[in-house]
Amino acid sequence: MSVLHKSNFDTDFLWGASTSAVQTEGAWNRHGKGLSVWDTFVQRKNKIASNHKHLVAADFYNRYMEDIAIAKSLNIPHFRFSLSWSRILPEGTGNINQDGIDFYNRVIDCCLENEIEPWITLYHWDLPNELELKGGWTNRAILEWFEEYVMVCMANFKDRVKYWMVLNEPVVFTGAGYFLGLHAPGKKGLKNFLPAIHHAVLCQAIGARIIKRESPTAEVGTTFSCSYITPNSLSNKDKIAALKTDALLNRLFIEPALGLGYPTNIPILKKIEKYFQTGDELLMKADFDFIGIQNYTREVVKHSYFVPYLQARPIPASKRKVYHTTMDWEVYPEAIYEMIKKFSGYEGVKKIIVTENGAAFNDTIENNQVADSERIDFLNSYIAQVLKAKLEGLKIAGYFVWSLTDNFEWAEGYHKRFGLVYINFETQQRIIKASGHWYKQFLKDK
Ligand code: FCB
Repeated sequence: MSVLHKSNFDTDFLWGASTSAVQTEGAWNRHGKGLSVWDTFVQRKNKIASNHKHLVAADFYNRYMEDIAIAKSLNIPHFRFSLSWSRILPEGTGNINQDGIDFYNRVIDCCLENEIEPWITLYHWDLPNELELKGGWTNRAILEWFEEYVMVCMANFKDRVKYWMVLNEPVVFTGAGYFLGLHAPGKKGLKNFLPAIHHAVLCQAIGARIIKRESPTAEVGTTFSCSYITPNSLSNKDKIAALKTDALLNRLFIEPALGLGYPTNIPILKKIEKYFQTGDELLMKADFDFIGIQNYTREVVKHSYFVPYLQARPIPASKRKVYHTTMDWEVYPEAIYEMIKKFSGYEGVKKIIVTENGAAFNDTIENNQVADSERIDFLNSYIAQVLKAKLEGLKIAGYFVWSLTDNFEWAEGYHKRFGLVYINFETQQRIIKASGHWYKQFLKDK
């Protein structure tokens, strides 16, 4: 494999690593934090693999200094993390928890002291439970709840934080959380999914406007999951299935933000109009400085009569017998290039940052070391595709690894490890994996 170096990219290309609050912080009920939907969801039986809970997670709440120091030691210049809404506003609105604000002030200051640029995701899936009791994302009142939360964050952090992302992967938290019931809050069905989509689309635009208004020099973005979609065969049915899946997974949230409306090739989506109010077309539009894309794999899709609304089904990588990670996600580096190309193709997209990319493998410790050569190969091959996109003049401007440390992987619990840094969840001991050393070397100044 060719040896990549960051000097292959422009000097202003941004490099980083990402995490999120639920997955790393722990301290779920410490110092005034209110409950989030994930705090209640993990208490339900058999919702999470092995009934794991994120209650301590990577203990970032207590160990942020150590983890930021590790990021520094790995030459990582940009660190993306999320704020927990219910740590800041325990009931979602109203009372502000000063201890929560103080915690994020410490994290931000610690980044800056280490010359690391903090990148904040405002919403990485942990809605305050109090708001869920009122319908959560299905209730249009979330537009005001979210506005209040964003205002509090801006008032407290805008003086030191330049890079903001409004939402993390809305198709995942609405799809898995409000349609399939696999993620918090565990709701199902179209009657939950459609309003949740529409309100998330409105909130991503509202959030962007508030950030720009409150901090005109800020760089504002939002993040989208995306997968390169290919049909399983050249049959018309499979091709249509692939196009519908592409609309659902890749286009649903960006197109309304760009003023293009919702995709029309999934007929059931038309029902979303029921949740429209006058002026929503305009309200949905947002002027993002950058779009965060998060790509891990591709999906090979076939037609299926049994899947309601979509009539399409992805074929798992293991069934296709292709090389895959422990998430059963195919290792397919070209996917990231294809996604950068796809998103660059939108006229309204100014700049793209890969805000997540990485892989879960079965890491093992020997002599206090983790020799995760598969992850190194993965990162190398995906970054090579990012370079290809860059050299072709596509709008790509940065790349973040998911994740800095091992953490709580949602419904998969602690079984899936994505970190550059290994965490022993019994002792909280950190061990920099070979991939962490590899990234350090890659990021080193010449
Ligand atoms: C993304 C999520 C992130 C992490 C990775 C593996 O969908 O944004 O929190 O779980 O997948």
